[in-house]
Amino acid sequence: MSENTAAGAPASGETSVEVDAATAATSDALLSVEGLERHFDGVRAVDGVSFTVAPHEVVSIIGPNGSGKTTTLNLVSGALRAGAGTISLEGRRIDHADPARIAEEGVARTFQNGRVFATLSVRDNVEVGLHSTLTASRPFRRLSRLFLLRWIPLLGELFIAIIGTPASRREQKQIDARVESEVQRFEARLGPRRDDPAYSLSYANRRRTEIARALALQPKLLLLDEPTAGMNQSETAEVLEQLLQLKADGQAILLVEHKLDLVMTVSDRVIVMDGGRIIAEGAPQTVRHDPAVIEAYLGRRRGLGGATDDVVASAAPADETPAATTGDAATGEDEA
Ligand SMILES: Nc1ncnc2c1ncn2[C@@H]1O[C@H](COP(=O)(O)OP(=O)(O)OP(=O)(O)O)[C@@H](O)[C@H]1O
Ligand SMILES: [Mg+2]
Repeated sequence: MSENTAAGAPASGETSVEVDAATAATSDALLSVEGLERHFDGVRAVDGVSFTVAPHEVVSIIGPNGSGKTTTLNLVSGALRAGAGTISLEGRRIDHADPARIAEEGVARTFQNGRVFATLSVRDNVEVGLHSTLTASRPFRRLSRLFLLRWIPLLGELFIAIIGTPASRREQKQIDARVESEVQRFEARLGPRRDDPAYSLSYANRRRTEIARALALQPKLLLLDEPTAGMNQSETAEVLEQLLQLKADGQAILLVEHKLDLVMTVSDRVIVMDGGRIIAEGAPQTVRHDPAVIEAYLGRRRGLGGATDDVVASAAPADETPAATTGDAATGEDEA
């Protein structure tokens, strides 16, 4: 699918993070999204969306297939540019910044279809997430944004990688410790596989690796796009436990998820999208009984109250990859 360049979007390469004084003064939100729009060839994927995420809050976005959930996350993480609207993190505008800069500002994400580097080990996959934070090993990294001066940081990084400096060695030790602590978060699953290449992992373990990579950044805001897609019931329950632990630790999360049991358990607030717009928003139990939500999300046949198995089944996205068809899960080796 082609991606349009949004009308009015800044030229690519522009990476400013502006301080929005008005937003900073009036809002204590961690993330503030105002009037966000993104259209693709006439499809209003995101059509005037506004919401906030408070510090330490877990907010979920639910909605039918194609309602604009992933596009919203793509806009917040900088993977896509908005056609209109603003996105602010702690009052600082990030909607013109590139994804690396947004990650530096404290927004980390995982992807709906799972993205790991197949030939890298679990540890290296997690370490990749920390690249943007390196300072001693990347002393001229800010110059890499200036097209004509890109060669300076490249040569500098190459030199330091070959020769090493006391500061870069110290930094590498800190990185190793961070990576190790994230692998240990999933110790039972990833621990024995920390040196295995990602291609040999089960689907569920690849998703855990991706979450570990995002968390290694110690983000202010964690964006998760269907972290349990393709997972069976017990794997989903494990992810729920980990999300509840993150929530207890005060991690702010913007979660896109189809499994409503999980959403209702972990969320402080739920946003419901349909056709690129927010059609309902509120506490999980309120949203669950909202007639507009029942209509849009599940159709006329059934309601949200209580029939959770039906809900999960009907809410499952059409393109989910069954865990049992990929990697070590297929052999039964991993998730036993
Ligand atoms: N890169 C793109 N090019 C063209 N159309 C796109 C693109 N990305 C998304 N769309 C369209 O925008 C709409 C919203 O898509 P999006 O992926 O955000 O939905 P979603 O709510 O995440 O759906 P799902 O639950 O299936 O993941 C859909 O109609 C989709 O086809
Ligand atoms: Mg999606």
